[in-house]
Amino acid sequence: MSQHLENSQIPFINLSVDIDNFKDHSLGDLYDRAYKLHESKELNDHDFNKIQLAISEILATIEEKNKDHFYVRQARLTDIDELENMVSYWAQQGENLPRARADLIRNILSFAVCVKNNAVVGCACLFVYDSGLAEIRSLGVSPLIQRQGQGRAIVEYLLSRACKMKIKKVFVLTRNPAFFERVGFTKTVITALPEKILKDCDNCKKKDRCDEVAYEYNFKG
Ligand SMILES: CC(C)(COP(=O)(O)OP(=O)(O)OC[C@H]1O[C@@H](n2cnc3c(N)ncnc32)[C@H](O)[C@@H]1OP(=O)(O)O)[C@@H](O)C(=O)NCCC(=O)NCCS
Repeated sequence: MSQHLENSQIPFINLSVDIDNFKDHSLGDLYDRAYKLHESKELNDHDFNKIQLAISEILATIEEKNKDHFYVRQARLTDIDELENMVSYWAQQGENLPRARADLIRNILSFAVCVKNNAVVGCACLFVYDSGLAEIRSLGVSPLIQRQGQGRAIVEYLLSRACKMKIKKVFVLTRNPAFFERVGFTKTVITALPEKILKDCDNCKKKDRCDEVAYEYNFKG
């Protein structure tokens, strides 16, 4: 029990205590204190039970509140198994290009991961071309939690990274134009992206029947 209490969270129990005494204490501290008071008979069974019940209720509320919580961060080598699974899952579905584990390790710095309940639930990387433009690649979110904001969070994280690097344009080739439109990208044509053509398209089996659409995000200024 490490969560800290806020006054508004403490369900009022009919005890003659000053609530300020509990400020900056964790729920664990509160329980320990009540336990000691109970042991020394300064707190009767009834009040001790009420405190235990209140603590359980607070914990259940916090747990419920955090259920949907997720965040995006820089990928680490310790994410590599989950990252590899995510990339290979979407590659098998034909949505992304397959990538070897060694390639993921070498490029770990370019990856961001979305984490929920200590598990990687999404990923993508920002590939910077010699020209200074960048591409979002290997974007994928767990098939179990689609359409819950993780994809947007990952893209926004990478765009903010690109902005800090003063990259002027970020592009993507996708079969999911609706998503990229929702996250602020605008349609372009692949021929406007010579870097991509040189790097991937020239060697692609689908070169002459490409079913992907190019989208770009331009930074102002
Ligand atoms: C594309 C993908 C990453 C989107 O992730 P997500 O977490 O499901 O998307 P989000 O919940 O963040 O969606 C953001 C917005 O896009 C919309 N959106 C997402 N997928 C959409 C779709 N297929 N069609 C229409 N709108 C879509 C959402 O409704 C949301 O709109 P809102 O902000 O107005 O509510 C995910 O569907 C995925 O993993 N797809 C398979 C791999 C893939 O296609 N990768 C992209 C290769 S370039």
